[in-house]
Amino acid sequence: MLRLEGVSHSYDDRAVLRDVTLDLAEHRIGVIGANGSGKSTLARTLNGLVVPDEGRVTLGEWDTRRHARHIRRRVGFVFSDAANQIIMPTVAEDVEIGLRALKLGREETARRVEEALVRYGLDGHRDHPGHLLSGGQKQLLALASVLVTEPEVLVCDEPTTLLDLRNTRMVHRTLDGLEQQVVLFTHDLDLLDDFDRVLVMDAGRVVFDGVPGDAVPHYTKLMDER
Ligand SMILES: Nc1ncnc2c1ncn2[C@@H]1O[C@H](COP(=O)(O)OP(=O)(O)OP(=O)(O)O)[C@@H](O)[C@H]1O
Ligand SMILES: [Mg+2]
Repeated sequence: MLRLEGVSHSYDDRAVLRDVTLDLAEHRIGVIGANGSGKSTLARTLNGLVVPDEGRVTLGEWDTRRHARHIRRRVGFVFSDAANQIIMPTVAEDVEIGLRALKLGREETARRVEEALVRYGLDGHRDHPGHLLSGGQKQLLALASVLVTEPEVLVCDEPTTLLDLRNTRMVHRTLDGLEQQVVLFTHDLDLLDDFDRVLVMDAGRVVFDGVPGDAVPHYTKLMDER
C-alpha cells in the first residue's frame, strides 16, 4: 500500500504540499482540486518523480527517497500530455521500451507487446509512428506502454484532458476494467462516480476525504466561495 507520512514540498519559497498524511488502500481513488492546488506534485511523489522536502512516501518496505527504481517498476505513471510519453519510432516499440528493463526474454516480451496492442485497439497501428495517432489513441498508447509492465498501482494525472467524449469514455472504460489500483488526478468529475474514495486538495492540503457523493459537492462549494 502507498503511504504518505507528513509530506511537505516547496518550490523556491512556495509551499506546494503541506503536511500530507495518507494511506492509499482503496482500489479506486480520485484526487480533485483547483488549478495549482498541488495535485500533479502529489501525483509525482507517488512514484518518486518528486521526492518531498519533508516526510516520506512508501510502498510497503520501499521508500521513494531510497528505492526510486523499485517503486517506479511498481507504480506506473500516465501523464496528461501523452505525447510526451511517446518516444520511439513505432507504436509497437513504444509499448516494448518499458519492458526492456524487466529483461523478460524475446518471446515473452513479444507476447506481452502483442497482447497490449490488441487489448487497447492499437494492433492496426503497430508499425506507425506514435505521433501520427489521434489524441485518444496516443492516450491509449501511453496507458498500454505503462500497463504492459504490469504495475501494482496506476497513477494517472489528467488522462482525459484534450480528449473528446468518445475517447474520454474509452479511457474511462479502460481504467474501469483494470485489476490494478488506480489513483486518478482529474478535473473530470464524472469519471469519479463509482470511485471508492475521493480526496479534495486545496493550497497543498487534503481538505476533504470521503466518498464521491460527498467530495464532489465539497469541492463545488469550495469553488463557489472563491
Ligand atoms: N517544477 C516546478 N517548479 C516550480 N514550481 C512548480 C513546479 N511544479 C509545480 N510548481 C508550482 O506548484 C504549484 C502546484 O502545481 P501542481 O502542478 O501540483 O498543481 P495542480 O493541482 O496539478 O494544478 P492543475 O490543476 O493546473 O494541473 C503551482 O503553483 C506550480 O506553479
Ligand atoms: Mg496538474
